[in-house]
Amino acid sequence: MRILVTGGAGYIGSHTLLELLGEQHDICVLDNYSNSSPEALSRVRLLTNADFLDVKADIRDDNALMNIFQDFQPEAVIHFAGLKAVGESGKVPLTYYENNIRGSLSLLKAMETVGCRRIVFSSSATVYGEPQYLPYDEAHPCAPTNPYGRTKYFVEEILKDWATSSFKNSAVLLRYFNPAGAHSSGSIGEDPNGIPNNLMPFISQVAVGKRDQLNVFGGDYDTRDGTGLRDYIHVSDLASAHMAAVNYSAAHTGVEAFNIGTGKGATVLEVVKAFEEASALRIPYVISPRRSGDIAASVADPKKAQELLGWKAKLTLNNMCQSAWKWQSQNLEGYGNPPEN
Ligand code: NAD
Ligand code: UFG
Repeated sequence: MRILVTGGAGYIGSHTLLELLGEQHDICVLDNYSNSSPEALSRVRLLTNADFLDVKADIRDDNALMNIFQDFQPEAVIHFAGLKAVGESGKVPLTYYENNIRGSLSLLKAMETVGCRRIVFSSSATVYGEPQYLPYDEAHPCAPTNPYGRTKYFVEEILKDWATSSFKNSAVLLRYFNPAGAHSSGSIGEDPNGIPNNLMPFISQVAVGKRDQLNVFGGDYDTRDGTGLRDYIHVSDLASAHMAAVNYSAAHTGVEAFNIGTGKGATVLEVVKAFEEASALRIPYVISPRRSGDIAASVADPKKAQELLGWKAKLTLNNMCQSAWKWQSQNLEGYGNPPEN
């Protein structure tokens, strides 16, 4: 299948490319490298011994999109491109709405011009907001509590309208829980700019000595050890969920949302312990005040994805820590060069 992958040079996109190329799909990556490096694509080529098109472009650039769609004529789009930092989204909400919502609209308009009817969208568990019950199933009400989460929720709503506007359209909404880990080779992984916001890359940087200690945000939550509990999902499992979603969209029209998680939660201190075991290092940490906007616990009910997509997470928290450690210890500076702008 000819598949256009927006944001394909990013963390989840690059891991998904390995799966897509492994299945001999014909790929075009579109990325503006605002949060990634072309080096990730070079490493994907080395790992797979497969080639694909890549175009440096912004999803908000209508002319560039038209040219790419006319030339490549994709049969499906996997849409990763977007800004993703929750804290930053509160400071520059318009930038987030512009990038994530307008960018998605431009993409849908370009899809219409060439009759491309299938999209798999990177949504997020953050669309649910404060849990009314756990685990979250897909019927849980959506009430995101930050601008980033609202961009995901609004794009989901736009995709629902688009999918129902023609009986030929198909939209699959993948609500990721907490992606973590790296490819087993250690040659691709997560390479955040500046100080990492997320737990696993922060711990990895403490492990290699780039940061002194981990600040554990809150030790008084109503969880088994008082620290925040999340459903961590290995990025390679996440990648295989995209394969299942593409296949599903080829066989089904309409719109469907899926939780992509394991159904099991781990606390911050449990992640620290698992990382210590994987790296044989001690991770110094201090219990700090809660981070504003955090919830105590978030866990997926992944049954629907298993039933309809035939997908289930296979890898464990230990696998996530081992692979994250391998990536970080082999790539002290991530992909090396600062990302282009
Ligand atoms: P990432 O930042 O590594 O990848 C996103 C990619 O999109 C980057 O390569 C970036 O350069 C590109 N991009 C951003 N804006 C663009 C634009 N306007 N035009 C073209 N390219 C653009 O992030 P990721 O972790 O791989 O996340 C991928 C998607 O999954 C995002 O939409 C994110 O919101 C969503 N998501 C991520 C997480 C997570 O914790 N990583 C959780 C839930 C959902
Ligand atoms: N945490 C710390 N110290 C840190 C970083 C995180 O204690 O330095 C804690 C947090 O308080 C939380 C847990 O580790 O309890 C996980 O935090 P992350 O920042 O890694 O992840 P979040 O659950 O806050 O959010 C992530 C992504 C969002 C996405 C959401 C749901 O950042 O984009 O998962 O998928 F929407």
